[in-house]
Amino acid sequence: MLKAAFIQFAPIIGNLNKTISKLELLIEKTGKTNLVVIPELANSGYNFNSKEQAFDLAENINKSQYIEFLEDKCKKFNLFIVSGFNEKEKNQIFNTAVLIGPKGIIGKYRKIHLFMNEKDYFSKGNLGLPVFDIGFCKIGLLICFDWIFPEVWRILALKGADIICHPSNLVLPYAQKAIPIHAMLNKVFIITTNRTGKEGNLTFTGKSIIANPNGEILMSASENEEETAIVKIDPALARNKMMTERNDIFKDRITEDYKEIIN
Ligand code: ACM
Repeated sequence: MLKAAFIQFAPIIGNLNKTISKLELLIEKTGKTNLVVIPELANSGYNFNSKEQAFDLAENINKSQYIEFLEDKCKKFNLFIVSGFNEKEKNQIFNTAVLIGPKGIIGKYRKIHLFMNEKDYFSKGNLGLPVFDIGFCKIGLLICFDWIFPEVWRILALKGADIICHPSNLVLPYAQKAIPIHAMLNKVFIITTNRTGKEGNLTFTGKSIIANPNGEILMSASENEEETAIVKIDPALARNKMMTERNDIFKDRITEDYKEIIN
C-alpha cells in the first residue's frame, strides 16, 4: 500500500516566490505520503499574454529554483513528486511534467497535445510516452488536454504504468468525467490534479480526482478551494487486467482489426 495525494491550488502567474510559499505549506500537509501530484505549469502559471512572457517564466530544469525547492521536499519527506513545469531548453519551451524522488529528478514527459494558445508558445513534446519504475510502482505521466486522447492512456497502461499522474489546468467543465472511465478501461489508478482560480479570461475548474482501476472515484476536490487529499493505493490492483475469469482486457485485444486507427 502506498499513500498518494493531490495538491489542488492556484499558482501565481509571474511570482514564483509566492507560488513556492503557498506550496511549502501544502506540501508540509501531504509530507507523510509516498507520491504527490501538483498541477500543470505550476512554476509559471498558464494564461500568458505573449510568447515572451511564456519564455520569461520558463526555467531550465537543471537550474531551476522551483525544481530545487521540490527536490528539497522529496529529500526531507522521502517522497516522490510529479509536477507540471514550464521548461526552457535553448530557444524552445515545453509544457512538461517532471517526476522527482528523494535522490533528485527521475524523468519527465513533455506534453504532446497542446491546447488552444499553448500552440503559440510551446513546442510539441519530443520525449514520447515514458513510464518510470520507482520501485514500489510504475508511473506514467500525461498533462491536462491529453485527457481527450484515449490512445495515450492505453499506451501507458500497455507499458505497465500502475498509476498515471496527470497534472492539469483544466478549463472545460466536463473533462474530469473522463478520468474514472480511462481508469476503468485501462485498469490503472489515475491522479488528476487540477488548479483553481482565474487568469485573465480563463477560469480553472478544480475538481481534482483520484480514480481506481474499477473506475471508482477514491477522492475528489471542490471546484474553487485550494485543498489536498490523501488516499491509500495498492498498485498491485492495476496489474490484474482480468475483467471476468475468461477476459483479460489486454490479451483479448484483436489488434489486427484495429489497423484503421493508424493513419
Ligand atoms: C489544458 O490542456 N491546459 C486545458
